Amino acid sequence: MEKKITILPGDGIGPEVVASAVEVLQAVGKRFQHTFHIAYATIGGAAIDQHEDPLPQETIELCEQSDAILLGAVGGPKWDQNPAELRPEKGLLRIRKHFDLFSNLRPVQAVPSLIKASPLKDDLVKDVDLLIVRELTGGLYFGEPRKRTDEEALDSLVYTRPEIERIVENAFELARVRRGKLTSVDKANVLDTSRLWRQIVDEKKAQYPDVEVEHSLVDSTAMKLITNPGAYDVIVTENMFGDILSDEASVITGSLGVLPSASIRSDNFGLYEPVHGSAPELAGRGIANPAATILSVAMMLRYSFGLKEEAAEIERAVNAVFEDGYFTADLATPDSRVLTTNEWTEKVLNELDTSFVSDSIMTTYI
Ligand SMILES: NC(=O)c1ccc[n+]([C@@H]2O[C@H](COP(=O)([O-])OP(=O)(O)OC[C@H]3O[C@@H](n4cnc5c(N)ncnc54)[C@H](O)[C@@H]3O)[C@@H](O)[C@H]2O)c1
Repeated sequence: MEKKITILPGDGIGPEVVASAVEVLQAVGKRFQHTFHIAYATIGGAAIDQHEDPLPQETIELCEQSDAILLGAVGGPKWDQNPAELRPEKGLLRIRKHFDLFSNLRPVQAVPSLIKASPLKDDLVKDVDLLIVRELTGGLYFGEPRKRTDEEALDSLVYTRPEIERIVENAFELARVRRGKLTSVDKANVLDTSRLWRQIVDEKKAQYPDVEVEHSLVDSTAMKLITNPGAYDVIVTENMFGDILSDEASVITGSLGVLPSASIRSDNFGLYEPVHGSAPELAGRGIANPAATILSVAMMLRYSFGLKEEAAEIERAVNAVFEDGYFTADLATPDSRVLTTNEWTEKVLNELDTSFVSDSIMTTYI
């Protein structure tokens, strides 16, 4: 397979974790005989510094010529006082909207060797394996009209039927290939957008008889995510509820440094990025955890390119390194071995190589 990938390192630790992920991508390409053509462009603060625009036209054009995008993270104190249009985060909102990346997927899965890093009790965390499907291009963050004066401010929460239908269908399809359970989260006791959302979920249910559906109000879901996170399979929700719930879910497994995400369009074109931000206080120190970005590459291979075996191999290698007791500083416990970003990446690359050697031996015997 031959694919073009645009890399947007961004700011803070973005360039460091992206460099690790690109090494892993190239190693997997070599092993499975795929060619990944890589091109780099700017976004966020780095793009503001170079082009006075958080999402320059040349970045958009390069992404348009690609099959997928890998992003590090954007933002930092340097740009915090900028006007809204010149904030790094604006680059993210614009790229999601420009490419119509309406479906944001955030898997949260317990890894046995990381359970101790969770703020929750082991028993609550050990069975967690959930996927949050968040609508990403509609709702309150994009609705018009909006206005602000010193006396009054207005944001609009708008959802159309097609916007809800496509994300709900996407979530049903994902639930079908997982454990067949879908929790639709809304605030239907108060909001009309939520009532329409609930109505559409109920309409679609008939097309997916193999999926068990439940409706859940966002406030009680926020509680249950902490008191019984193992009860969820796929959670589908609108933009703002998904923003909040996915950050809540991200702490269940212990570190932001291990959580990947995908933002996907109907034709499977996607933008892949770690859930964490640019962690400016860690930038340039070589100690950031690259696991979330490496696992985002696995999501890219699975969702945009359909390379399931290759994706699973990356996930296996990452988990094997954790199982061997190697961690970056954010996950370190007194008896773990603490590695730098590069050293930890090297362990993952060795793990991929080692299994390659054993595969070759197996092939010889067969
Ligand atoms: N998608 C994005 O690009 C994105 C997301 C969130 C925040 N941000 C931006 O990032 C900047 C910092 O925001 P924040 O501090 O709220 O969130 P953050 O995710 O950058 O950091 C939160 C905490 O997690 C730690 N952390 C995050 N990623 C880590 C990693 N890979 N390895 C080890 N530790 C890690 C940080 O050190 C910090 O203690 C802000 O400018 C914010 O706007 C960007």
